[in-house]
Amino acid sequence: MAGKYQIPRGTFDILPEDSYKWQYLKNTFREVTRMFNFKEIVTPIFEKSELFERSVGVSSDIVQKEMYKFKDKKGRILALRPEGTAPIVRSYVENNLGRDGDLSKLFYIGPMFRYERPQKGRYRQHFQYGIENIGSENPYIDAEVIAVGFNFLKKLGLDNFELQINSIGCPNCTLDYNKALVKYFSSYYDELCSDCKIRIKKNPKRLLDCKVESCKKIALNAPSMLDYLDDECEIHFKKVQENLSKINIPFKINPRIVRGLDYYTKTAFEFIDNNLGAQNTLIGGGRYDGLVKQLGGNDVPGIGFAGGFERLIVSMEKEGLQFGREQSPDVFLVTLGEEAKEFGISFLSKLRNNRISAEISIDKNSLKAQMKAANKSKAPFALILGDNEIKKEEITLKNMETGFQELVKLADIVEKLLQILKIK
Ligand code: HAM
Repeated sequence: MAGKYQIPRGTFDILPEDSYKWQYLKNTFREVTRMFNFKEIVTPIFEKSELFERSVGVSSDIVQKEMYKFKDKKGRILALRPEGTAPIVRSYVENNLGRDGDLSKLFYIGPMFRYERPQKGRYRQHFQYGIENIGSENPYIDAEVIAVGFNFLKKLGLDNFELQINSIGCPNCTLDYNKALVKYFSSYYDELCSDCKIRIKKNPKRLLDCKVESCKKIALNAPSMLDYLDDECEIHFKKVQENLSKINIPFKINPRIVRGLDYYTKTAFEFIDNNLGAQNTLIGGGRYDGLVKQLGGNDVPGIGFAGGFERLIVSMEKEGLQFGREQSPDVFLVTLGEEAKEFGISFLSKLRNNRISAEISIDKNSLKAQMKAANKSKAPFALILGDNEIKKEEITLKNMETGFQELVKLADIVEKLLQILKIK
């Protein structure tokens, strides 16, 4: 039954039967980031569009083609955030989060917006989880940030992913590398797609990231950034690898990773699920040592990553992994007779006030219909209350899995339920 109004293209509803999966992913991400002492930060869903132009870059696909940009009633030019790093660095600078000289270890979960061509794993509103670690250029921090992503995927039960790392150097190394790229790609100029013909002038590194098959083929033999790293960047990259090995995180070096956002320097990495098809990057991230300064703060380095929950769900479903337990009440109250129903209403409230999640089928009267509803709710226990039982001050407790039934004193039932449900 399609109504008059349909959801905007590239967006989706998270329906009640699926919301527990999202809850599970968010909770697991919170647990893992807590192990590493990251604290949550929440920034607005829209920002001044200039913020993304300055940081993600005017020549990036995100800013050029994908931003939801609009004017508010006072003519301010705003954008729905396409990503989380720029807003968090904006907040870091604005709120002087680095004032005590400590590292800022921040995590976030929330929707991002990009006007992309929708397909499986790619949406116009997608939900990202991510972290930012601002304040250290120590290569151990690169490994620690990567470890958060690795531990998260592992904790969800995933095994079928590969960590690929690269160093894209600093502005100092990029000068020579860009010259080499321009020289290489110029000899194939006529064969390049129209976007790459622009990229070669504005941002040659992005040619390595082009998804057009003919450009991809040409890019295969392009010069490698790793041959152009200056001493500092080369040593940093080596130390990142040593630190990853120290904490037993397997990785592969992929010199083709450039990432589509302009703020990156040095380490860049992606967690790839090779069975996912075109949208196979589960997590993408890297260093952005110049970004805080660029956005008006001190010269403070940073590194982080983000991933989309949508791809994660596809990847987990492919592997047959579970998303925790679907939500159900602890008990389902079945009442027989008018008096029992009246009494049941206050009894239900007593259960809920004692931390026991309880449900009733208020519009159904027969035992059969109510037991059917109890089954459907997946409550592990039913409580059956008839007029007779009220007189005796008792209630029937039924284990819905085994079918075992027993009579329990009404005065004792709350304590008993708290015990068997292990509610503290
Ligand atoms: P990104 O690579 O643009 O990086 O996005 C990160 C992840 O978000 C992707 O790997 C993918 O899992 C997911 N994603 C991106 N776009 C979509 C989409 N349209 N639909 C579904 N999922 C999507 C960033 O956003 C950086 N801010 C990451 C970062 C944080 N770097 C340093 N710190």
